[in-house]
Formats: sequence, structure tokens, C-alpha cells
Amino acid sequence: MTEHRQELEQTANEMVAEGKGILASDESNSTMTKRLDAVGVESTEESRRRFRELMFTTEGAEEHISGVIMYDETIRQSTGDGTPFPELMASRGMIPGIKVDTGAKPLAGSPDEKVTEGLDGLRERFEEYRELGARFAKWRGVITIGDHLPSRYCIDVNAHALARYAALAQEAGITPIVEPEVMMDGEHSIDRSEQVTGDTLRAVFSELARQRVLLEGMVLKPNMVLSAYDNPDQASIEEVAERTLALFKRVVPASVPGIVFLSGGQTDEAASAHLSAMNKIGGVPWELSFSYGRALQGAPLKRWGGEESNVTDAQSVFAHRAHCNGEARFGRYSDELEQEAVAA
Ligand code: 13P
Repeated sequence: MTEHRQELEQTANEMVAEGKGILASDESNSTMTKRLDAVGVESTEESRRRFRELMFTTEGAEEHISGVIMYDETIRQSTGDGTPFPELMASRGMIPGIKVDTGAKPLAGSPDEKVTEGLDGLRERFEEYRELGARFAKWRGVITIGDHLPSRYCIDVNAHALARYAALAQEAGITPIVEPEVMMDGEHSIDRSEQVTGDTLRAVFSELARQRVLLEGMVLKPNMVLSAYDNPDQASIEEVAERTLALFKRVVPASVPGIVFLSGGQTDEAASAHLSAMNKIGGVPWELSFSYGRALQGAPLKRWGGEESNVTDAQSVFAHRAHCNGEARFGRYSDELEQEAVAA
């Protein structure tokens, strides 16, 4: 880890550079198939490649996108004219990243919960991904809130696996994104969200310390503290921002360079508004940024719908979402900004 210290820190800082955030286009083939099915596009290696190419070649994307997380299939793919995706990104100033977990699987002994797999052979896989151009990686643990859930067992095994992954990434000179996602599906209150997110982050940082992970050379990717989506009593934008920051000040060490939130099924507008409100409050030791999947890609995917003739329009929609979230990095997202593209 010390061997790569400078590189790990530099990559982490570039990932959370001012005004920029991360594009999470690392859906596994099965998740991407669901997303494509939803807009009536058949999922093939080529249709997945074409949608990714549309985003990666959007003019000006690099103004707001610091890095891109890819899936194993995607990092091996190229543009239509034969430029490998990692090479294209690097030439445009976007850092290539790779999702290395192999998915959340049922947790033995607690079948309603999950544990993320992918540690076997990971050291060797990191070597290969580095050769393919990856400079950062991602691993997502999933924590579900329910009656009597999550169990301490589930939090601990996921925290342990996240730290094992992060230590191996740093050994390879690859900056880890550590993503413990507390799901916001269901009806739970924002109080419960805060409690479980706090328990999870405390366990994660305890394991990261025990496993000697360099906090300066990693990026945290958490959920925001929200009311569950089916709870009729929804917290306001300001309350979400204040409670998320208050909790994180208690549990996230100041040495972590940046926090990149996941969107987790929030609407595009809510994801931008929450991030903007947090940056407006400010006064925290970390950069507050985004690593959005659905909140950056959902709208352009819909606009594209698999039609070549829609590529330019879909790219404008993607550029707009990237711009809105880039402005949210400065606390400057607004309804007026949101409407700009609709008018254009
Ligand atoms: P969402 O922003 O759609 O939650 O995706 C981010 C991500 O990478 C989840 O692992």
C-alpha cells in the first residue's frame, strides 16, 4: 500500500475534482438487460456497447465527469471506430474504473440478506484490469432494512469483504471505491435510515482500519440518509442534506478525500437537489460528489430507445444531467437550471 501511496491519493483526488463526479455505468449484463428491456431494446453485447459509446463520446462530458466505472464486458469494448473505451476515456481526461465484485448473493443462515462475492482470484484480476487501463475500482455491499433487519452478522460480513477488497486494490495501485449501500426501498423512517447507515459506516471504517487500508487513497460511496420511498412522510430536501451531513461528520474520518453518493432509485431531480443542498451547507472535510448510475443514465437511455437517429438527442439529455450534477457540486442546482434543457 505504501508502495503506491502517491498514486492512490492522486487518483482519489482526481476522482473528486472540483465540479466533477463519477458516471457509474458498470451494470452487470443481467442488470443492463433489465434496463434495456424497460425501454424496449434487446440486450446484446452490441446494444450494450452502443449505449455506453453514446455516453462516453458525449461532447463536453469530461467537464463534469471525472471517471467512469465499467463492467468487465465494457472495459474490453471499443468505439465503433475501434478505440478501446479505456483509451478513449484517458484521452479525454476521464479516469477508467472497473467494478470488481461479482454480485450480492443470499447470505447463508440469513436468506433475506445478502453478502457480496468476488474475492477469489481478485489479486490476479486486479493485475489484468490494470493492464486494461483501470485506475480505480468499485465493490458494492448491500444492506437491507426490514423487520429485525439488518442483522449484525450481515453488516459485519459485508464490511469485512469491503475491506478485503479495498486492501487488495491498494496493493495493486488501484484506488478503491468502498460502497456500502443501505437500501431505501420499503416504508422505514428517516430515523431508521440514519441509524442503519451509521451502524454500517462505523463497521466499515473499523474493518478498513483493521485491514490497513489507506483512507487518503480511497473514496466512499454511500447512500444518503432518506425516508424510504414508500413512506408517506417524506423528509424535505434540507432535512435530508442536514441529517446526512450530521451523521457523516460523526462516522466518516476526515482523511477520506471524498464522498461520492449513489442515487439509489431517487428521481433525477431529487438526486441533484440533495447533493446541491449538501454542498450549499458545506463546512465538511471531504469533497461531496456523485457516482450516479440511474440518475445520470435513465433519462438518456429512454431518449435513445435503441435508435441511431436518437443518439444526438440522447447525448444532450446525458450532458444536461451531467451539467446539473456538476452544478450541484457547487450548491448551484435549481429548478431553473433543470428546466433549461427542456426548453432547449
Ligand atoms: P445508482 O446511482 O443507480 O444507485 O447506481 C450507482 C451504483 O453504482 C450502484 O452500485
